Amino acid sequence: MPTIDNCLGCPYRYGAAIGPRGNPASRIVLVGEAPGATEIVEGEPFRGRAGDVLWRAVDEARLLEGDLFITNSVACRPPHGRPSVRAIVACHGRLVRDIEAHPRAVIVALGLTAVRAVTGGRRFRMSDFHGVTLASVWGPVVPTFHPARVLRRPAQYPLLVEDLRHARRLTYGPGV
Ligand code: URA
Repeated sequence: MPTIDNCLGCPYRYGAAIGPRGNPASRIVLVGEAPGATEIVEGEPFRGRAGDVLWRAVDEARLLEGDLFITNSVACRPPHGRPSVRAIVACHGRLVRDIEAHPRAVIVALGLTAVRAVTGGRRFRMSDFHGVTLASVWGPVVPTFHPARVLRRPAQYPLLVEDLRHARRLTYGPGV
């Protein structure tokens, strides 16, 4: 059983936990939803098909992998699709530690689960996302579409790229 946080309260406590990846000194923290099958095999977030979309968008936004630190709302793979609220709550302390290891970073929340896990807000809808910056106790949060959703709705791909560009400008300044 993984013991990375409040695992006793987590319905996925017998799963394999996937830690974060990326630059520990990064000023941009990407928060995804949960690892999928490929991530469990490879032991890192965003290694599967959603990862392919994410890395293409990162490149188009003129960001490098070294600019980023990547974590998930829950560290284990949900057995039935999206993570439950109980799992997100149980894993929250671990998410907070990942975020707080990057003081003053810009947080990019990939999808509704991540927006809710980071901000605690329940009212957000995907359609509210594009082009806004939310406040959090850790700093600005840029909500955007989850790459797995973009796989199903390719028209959202340019919006994902634009939101990553927005995060880059918030981090490094408008001229960069
Ligand atoms: N892979 C991850 O690590 N997180 C996601 O949210 C999706 C795929």
